[in-house]
Amino acid sequence: SDGLSDLIRARVRDVPGFPQEGVTFRDITPLLADGTAFSAVIGHLADVFSGAVDAVAGIEARGFLLAAPLASVLGCSLLTVRKAGKLPPPVLSADYQLEYGSASIEIPADALRPGARVAVLDDVLATGGTAAAACALLERAGATITGLGFLLELGELGGRDRLPGRELHTLVTY
Ligand code: PRP
Ligand code: HPA
Repeated sequence: SDGLSDLIRARVRDVPGFPQEGVTFRDITPLLADGTAFSAVIGHLADVFSGAVDAVAGIEARGFLLAAPLASVLGCSLLTVRKAGKLPPPVLSADYQLEYGSASIEIPADALRPGARVAVLDDVLATGGTAAAACALLERAGATITGLGFLLELGELGGRDRLPGRELHTLVTY
């Protein structure tokens, strides 16, 4: 594995039994606390999406931590994909299924020009439900999704299978 993957892996804390029994939570707090490592992550993502995007969309909340510095480095638009009820109208909404129950995400209705090239960023790809809903929502708003970027992919949860035909960039796979 490459240097950046090792750098990230060494700064992710595994928390068995959180948020429930049988689950091991991957906590990125130590990575965020290491300025050199986090800066390398943003630099890598900037190389990946350089010249290919008009906007970077971050998924609330931890996706914001990646999307904001990335948009700043690329000098492109920053777009927030928010949990329902946070943004003032008019909004576009998408419902999606969680392991138990459902959730809803929203973007401003006038967020994008037709054909805007958008990269979607989040910290973790788990079941892929959130990212798939975000892509569908952004496409309804006129986006062309050029790719998705994640720090961590939890492979056994099959997120990739819910994003067929999408260009995925994941820095570390568990
Ligand atoms: C986590 C994570 C992703 C999503 C991944 O967010 O940050 O957004 O779940 O899960 P999925 O691939 O199964 O959809 P969470 O809902 O915990 O929100 P937070 O970032 O606000 O803590
Ligand atoms: N860590 C962080 N976020 C997550 C996880 C995890 O293990 N699973 C789903 N979202």
